Amino acid sequence: MRLRSWFVVLSAVTLLVIAQPARLAAQAEQLGPLRADIGGFGQPLPAVADNAADLALFLAGQRLFGTPLSIPVLGPLFNNRTCVACHFQPTMGGSGEFISEIHTRSDFSGLPVHTFAVDNMLRAGAQTQSGAAIFRHGLAAVPLGCEISDPNCRLSPCQQEEARRKNFSPDLPICDPSSAAFAAGENCTAQRQSTNLFGLGLVEAVADDDLIGLAKSQPPAIRGTPRMVDELGARRVARFGWKADGATLRAFAALATSNELGLTTPDAAKENTACADGVVQFGILLDAGHEPEDTPDAGGRAMLDRLVDFMRSLQPPPRLAEDRGARRGERLFAAIGCAGCHIPFLTTAANPAAFIPPTTGGVPISASLNKALARQRFSPFSDFLLHDMNSLGDGITSGSAGPTMMRTAPLWGVRSKVRFLHDGRTDDLSTAIRLHDGQGRDSAQQFEDLSPQDRAALISYLETL
Ligand code: HEC
Ligand code: HEC
Repeated sequence: MRLRSWFVVLSAVTLLVIAQPARLAAQAEQLGPLRADIGGFGQPLPAVADNAADLALFLAGQRLFGTPLSIPVLGPLFNNRTCVACHFQPTMGGSGEFISEIHTRSDFSGLPVHTFAVDNMLRAGAQTQSGAAIFRHGLAAVPLGCEISDPNCRLSPCQQEEARRKNFSPDLPICDPSSAAFAAGENCTAQRQSTNLFGLGLVEAVADDDLIGLAKSQPPAIRGTPRMVDELGARRVARFGWKADGATLRAFAALATSNELGLTTPDAAKENTACADGVVQFGILLDAGHEPEDTPDAGGRAMLDRLVDFMRSLQPPPRLAEDRGARRGERLFAAIGCAGCHIPFLTTAANPAAFIPPTTGGVPISASLNKALARQRFSPFSDFLLHDMNSLGDGITSGSAGPTMMRTAPLWGVRSKVRFLHDGRTDDLSTAIRLHDGQGRDSAQQFEDLSPQDRAALISYLETL
């Protein structure tokens, strides 16, 4: 929404330039400056930029992050063709304006969860297969697939299979896990906004014990819960995703390649469906059924590993200088309890290589990158722990993360986002704060009780992060 209105405003300015150059200054004044300075996002860590080998890996991964996949490795069920399609705001590796997944809940076994996966590759532009271009301009998706929320959608074979396995309805209410309807087991939806990936190498490099210790140090009323997961052969504290689904970038990237792109990897070697195996439509083999589709090259790196190389080396969002208001906001942020969950400083482990997994081909993290990630004090504004947010929970059960449990959203880079909260339900920071419930309610109430000037100061502080 906000983006669109900016576009309209900018077009109006452009027209003015052509028609009446003299009035432009007045017009620009009225608009005021853009609130957020988003320069410097998406850069590699300085130590990576200074190391030719590490920088080469960052750049190779960055390239693959933006390279569209084609059938048959893409899909058959997928949400988009590239990682950057959902992680682009304000630049590669960022969050997204789009709410890309819809989950519905129909019982208390946790899942079924509907993942908004469509086999709509042909609407997405030219397709290549075996190096040859086919459907140069793309095709309307029907009958290969269409967005299942569209009332006119004629489900393709894969979508029919999905519809049989999962319940989907486009007009369900947003899940409120504190409601009587939820307790009675009624269906509801929980949408998902993508998160930004800046600085995640540092997050991965925090020792499990430090997150467990952090939880112990929190006052009982807001104490977080570390989510334990068995991942790549180790029992770890998870920290990635809105429900803390993964402990390592490799494991989370394997979920993303499988669920978002339909690309099978050594870590997630089975397609989510066999509906398109060997099926030819419009003369195209939709899925060859050769899994995994992504395997390590001679250097021990699969595409999956290269995506991790990129994400691990991304530097945190650059902070902006604080003016007087923002400095006041910073004090309020601590005083009213925001900083109890949105922790301003964390420190990485002395030797992250001890627990950062190697590539799928067995290559460990480079000594130089390990050094760059070790003993770093950084400011994610999160504890990466789960909190009981009551009505703000998404209603989804994911392992030990129950329906009301959400990971504290890191606030670094929040100024570059257009929508907030796990489902992007608001584009207004104050509203996002007001919606804090459960363990976040007391702090949100204190925000509400501030004077309008103090609330504005706190928001202006958030916009420097
Ligand atoms: C269709 C949209 C979409 C695509 C394509 C996509 N993502 Fe995401 N990504 C999301 C959403 C939505 C989330 C939040 C998921 C959640 O936590 O439930 C997310 C979260 C993540 C996270 C967790 C970050 C954090 O804050 O802890 C990582 C890592 C990630 N994605 C990597 C990737 C990679 C790598 C690719 C390409 C293989 C990719 N994503 C493609 C939508 C997408
Ligand atoms: C009990 C822990 C806790 C406290 C205290 C808390 N938060 Fe949060 N915050 C969370 C969690 C968990 C989320 C993710 C909620 C969701 O979307 O499901 C979140 C989300 C947010 C978001 C949205 C970020 C995004 O990227 O969408 C903002 C902004 C925010 N908090 C600001 C604040 C401010 C300001 C305060 C103090 C008034 C505060 N929070 C207090 C846990 C907390």
